[in-house]
Amino acid sequence: AQLHSLAISSGLQYFGTATDNSELVDASLVSALSNHSEFGQVTPGNSQKWDSIEPGPNTFSFAKGDEIAALGKQNSQLLRCHTLVWFQQLPTWVQNGTWTNETLIAAMENHITTTVTHYKGSCHSWDVVNEALEADGSFRKSIFFSTIGEAYLKIAFDATAAADPDVKLYYNDFGIETPGPKTSAALNIVRSLKASGTRIDGVGLQSHFIVGSTPSREVQIANLESFTSLGVEVAITELDIRMTLPSTAAQESQQTTDYQNTASACVAVANCVGLSVWGFSDKYSWVPSTFPGTGSACPFDENLARKSAYYGIIAGLVGG
Ligand code: G3I
Repeated sequence: AQLHSLAISSGLQYFGTATDNSELVDASLVSALSNHSEFGQVTPGNSQKWDSIEPGPNTFSFAKGDEIAALGKQNSQLLRCHTLVWFQQLPTWVQNGTWTNETLIAAMENHITTTVTHYKGSCHSWDVVNEALEADGSFRKSIFFSTIGEAYLKIAFDATAAADPDVKLYYNDFGIETPGPKTSAALNIVRSLKASGTRIDGVGLQSHFIVGSTPSREVQIANLESFTSLGVEVAITELDIRMTLPSTAAQESQQTTDYQNTASACVAVANCVGLSVWGFSDKYSWVPSTFPGTGSACPFDENLARKSAYYGIIAGLVGG
């Protein structure tokens, strides 16, 4: 049995991966990605971000996002749609625009309504707001927070819900996989949206981990449950576990355990609905360019061969 089929047997809704348009010219990658018993879900790594979708004011460009949505549909894979409101990968007209509270709300609502309407029926979930928080739990001083204040989150979730009543609405972030100020602030986002009558269905824990400092299974379970106890589902949305290069047998063995712990934690939590890696092959991982000197973070190597880490996930899904 393979990743997605085991995830299903263990009560999850999916095992999946991010992918990007630039990878789709690689026939072996597409063939591996299209194996539904391995990957039952896909996330566009870049092509549904604001700079890709709306490069100019009210000028929409869905071709790249559509390409990944179509591939997923052809493969019967769920689509996690990513992401509507994020401080990165914004087009210049948004990032450097002269905004008032009113004009930025209007631009944000227009972006959300048009995008969510276009993908209505295709998306299993939307990462409505991505990475709104700093490590200390304060709100990130994005153009959205600086102009609109904390209310931008509620406005974004409400606009998404209005455009698609059926899609799951997620808050997605990194650094919320263990207790601490950032996690407390993410819990507060869920509480305050709910208290104000706004729908939020899930929290995505990105889980960009480092070999050897990945939180234990027990810590991850308790942390996931701190979210689900508020009445939202959770998903591991961008899992990868990087190491210092060159890889060593000791690091690979630790990475296998780390992958197992995360998969097993999700299986153990009733409302942890799915597990996605942020790219399945080291051939296309974002890690080495962002954290030079590190890599080998994915469960498949550069030749698309299964690594020990892959079997760690399998063991975690089986319940180990
Ligand atoms: O598209 C341009 C291309 O035209 C240009 O020639 C080239 C030159 O650098 O850049 C291309 O854009 C790159 C883009 O990926 C598409 O390949 C950007 O430079 C590069 O910064 C961008 O990186 C993406 C990163 O988000 C940006 O923040 C990664 O691929 C993507 O995997 C990563 O994904 C994020 C999630 O959305 C949120 N969580 C963290 C995760 C990892 O950073």
